[in-house]
Amino acid sequence: MQLKPIFLGNTAINNNVFLAPLAGYTNYAFRRLCKGYGAGLCYTEMVSAKGLKYGSENTKELLYTDGEEGLCAAQIFGSEPETMRAACEHDALAPFPIVDINMGCPVPKIYKNGEGSALLEDPFLAEKIVKECVKSGKIITVKFRIGITADKFITTEFAKRMEGAGASLITVHGRTKDKIYAGEVHFAEIAKAKAAVQIPVIANGGVFSNADAETLLNETGADGVMVARAALFHPQIFCELTGMETESKLQMFEKQLKWTQQVCDERFTTVFMRKMAAFYVKGERGAAAYKERLFSTQSPQEILAIAREIWE
Ligand SMILES: Cc1cc2nc3c(=O)[nH]c(=O)nc-3n(C[C@H](O)[C@H](O)[C@H](O)COP(=O)(O)O)c2cc1C
Repeated sequence: MQLKPIFLGNTAINNNVFLAPLAGYTNYAFRRLCKGYGAGLCYTEMVSAKGLKYGSENTKELLYTDGEEGLCAAQIFGSEPETMRAACEHDALAPFPIVDINMGCPVPKIYKNGEGSALLEDPFLAEKIVKECVKSGKIITVKFRIGITADKFITTEFAKRMEGAGASLITVHGRTKDKIYAGEVHFAEIAKAKAAVQIPVIANGGVFSNADAETLLNETGADGVMVARAALFHPQIFCELTGMETESKLQMFEKQLKWTQQVCDERFTTVFMRKMAAFYVKGERGAAAYKERLFSTQSPQEILAIAREIWE
């Protein structure tokens, strides 16, 4: 696909291929892996602004980063403008110059709280949140969906409002909230957002190959693409999209395991890397049997032994 840098004020992002925020997955190790494979910008998973306010331990772990990872964006969710601003100003977000606001999450618990995709129904509040967050001095970006249902797209008006409130970039997920992660990606809606604003627009939804990325860019005129689920099965999709050299699955797995251990305890590392190995083994011969064995492992060493058996 056509690569280009993205500029947010004085901040330059190497290229226009982004790793999406993925709750439960886009931790330090996974982001660092994808960055190494060429992703221009990676996002943390969504972090609760209220959780930061009340000092939840877990949010601090979600926000671990270091110089090895380089430029990275943190994503927050919430509905109270002041709490959202306080989150942007929180010490835990200090290493993140870019803060993205989640306005697309369809999970019932989040939606019912007036957070995530619920903000699509309250554009005034959404605007207020962005205005307040901008006061923190961070580069504020917004990731949103094209509406709640396909009979009422909100894309053009919402995109304009976000830009007007001070957002430096928007990512448009071309599906409605009621479709969760399935179904058609509405290219025309993303194209409307692109036509409506001057800030960079990143298109998201359904990129599983270089051909998909090209189609998404051609059909929408967007400035870049954001990849989500494809990266879970195949982090080296970023090599495919950016022309970086690939490496073996085993090398990839060993790196990810090492970096996960650097930040997380043995229990978390075991559970997380079991899940990742199960993604990576998909499509391999004997995948079902390997998965069964993986899920009975009790330590990173045991997982690594199976990974070596599969991929060495
Ligand atoms: C397991 C999972 C977790 C997700 N977590 C987040 C999240 O924390 N924040 C967010 O904005 N979107 C989240 N999303 C949505 C993705 O970022 C993306 O918008 C969506 O999956 C569509 O892209 P895709 O078709 O490339 O998968 C999540 C999606 C999945 C499948």
